[in-house]
Amino acid sequence: MSKSPEEEHPRKAFGWAARDASGILSPFNFSRRANGDEDVTLKILYCGVCHSDLHNIKNEWGNSIFPMVPGHEIVGIVTEVGKKVTKFKVGDKAGVGCLVGSCRACPNCNQDGEIYCSEMILSYNAIYHDGTPTYGGYSDMIVVDEHFVIRFPENLPLESSAPLLCAGITVYSPMKYFGLSKPGMHLGVAGLGGLGHMAVKFAKAFGLKVTVISTSPSKEEEAVERLGADSFLVSRDPKQMEAAKGTLDGIIDTVSAVHPLLPLIDLLKSHGKLVMVGAPDKPLELPVFPLLLGRKIVAGSASGGMKETQEMIDFAAKHNVTADVEVIPMDYIHTAMERLAKADVRYRFVIDIGNSLKAPDNGNANLNQIMQG
Ligand SMILES: NC(=O)c1ccc[n+]([C@@H]2O[C@H](COP(=O)([O-])OP(=O)(O)OC[C@H]3O[C@@H](n4cnc5c(N)ncnc54)[C@H](OP(=O)(O)O)[C@@H]3O)[C@@H](O)[C@H]2O)c1
Ligand SMILES: [Zn+2]
Ligand SMILES: [Zn+2]
Repeated sequence: MSKSPEEEHPRKAFGWAARDASGILSPFNFSRRANGDEDVTLKILYCGVCHSDLHNIKNEWGNSIFPMVPGHEIVGIVTEVGKKVTKFKVGDKAGVGCLVGSCRACPNCNQDGEIYCSEMILSYNAIYHDGTPTYGGYSDMIVVDEHFVIRFPENLPLESSAPLLCAGITVYSPMKYFGLSKPGMHLGVAGLGGLGHMAVKFAKAFGLKVTVISTSPSKEEEAVERLGADSFLVSRDPKQMEAAKGTLDGIIDTVSAVHPLLPLIDLLKSHGKLVMVGAPDKPLELPVFPLLLGRKIVAGSASGGMKETQEMIDFAAKHNVTADVEVIPMDYIHTAMERLAKADVRYRFVIDIGNSLKAPDNGNANLNQIMQG
């Protein structure tokens, strides 16, 4: 018989878990593996709330494993390193994103595309090499192979840079890969949520012209004045959409729900690229004629590999790109999820794990000593 989550590993851990698809999270005692030679242990301080967490706790993609501790925008302080670890020392700031493992040998892994490895292991809702479930960042600590841990430059504030680890890399990677990061290009960003607002910020840092395409007219002023977008289209206003036809080199589509693609395809110039990063739970309708006639491309992209994630963090630190966050205590999570479902967040909830996750004593009491020393 398999062991309970509390007993399968030697180190006590505590978090909040979903037990079924009701969307309810509650306190959860579980365990983490001992720190291996190549492992880094992190005391988690902040964790971003991604819309994927919401899709997953409600089993909207049909592949949820319960109990589930969500969270893949994890930042904290290194409290232990294995003897073969080279990139980290105790006391360093570090982060963990969507991935905690892959085969490390296939063509994707060899080309820094671990996220496209057929054996990649997600930070939660997956099974690790040892056969036990992975649990994410709505928890007090995590043990991860250093290959999947990201270094955080000193000047990046942890709470507002946690979302870079999923929202940031998920929009940065396709802009680079699909040639949509060249200064002067005109990029559309569909959906102004966690991913969308990061796309605006990275695009502006790359020197692009940016048009936000949104269902929320109330976001216009902020999009332009605070986030730096050049223009704003209300996607449900046919007049505005008509006037902007054929103006964009590419679009990063971050929309989390089923939505029509034709109006977006029509915004593209000939040879333009519509890159899907949002992950609606049902298939979208793809009209083919406008693609043929404009030789347009519809593509997809999943967060990013480890090398590119580090490159993105270093770029963000250099250009002061961080998320606009609403820091919340752990017990606000249900309200946060309700608001996220209604696109009512400016623009990422980040859980203050360090101060609000009330855990039983689990051996992390020496953190203060480490941080002061
Ligand atoms: N590819 C990947 O690897 C990857 C990584 C992370 C997340 N994701 C997926 O990306 C999506 C977005 O994640 P997120 O965390 O950025 O979510 P989010 O903060 O909720 O943002 C999604 C935005 O989509 C727009 N939207 C929502 N419902 C809509 C509807 N019915 N019609 C049109 N627009 C709608 C809203 O923007 P407006 O108010 O501006 O319309 C909303 O703010 C999710 O599906 C998530 O699972 C994928
Ligand atoms: Zn995510
Ligand atoms: Zn691989």
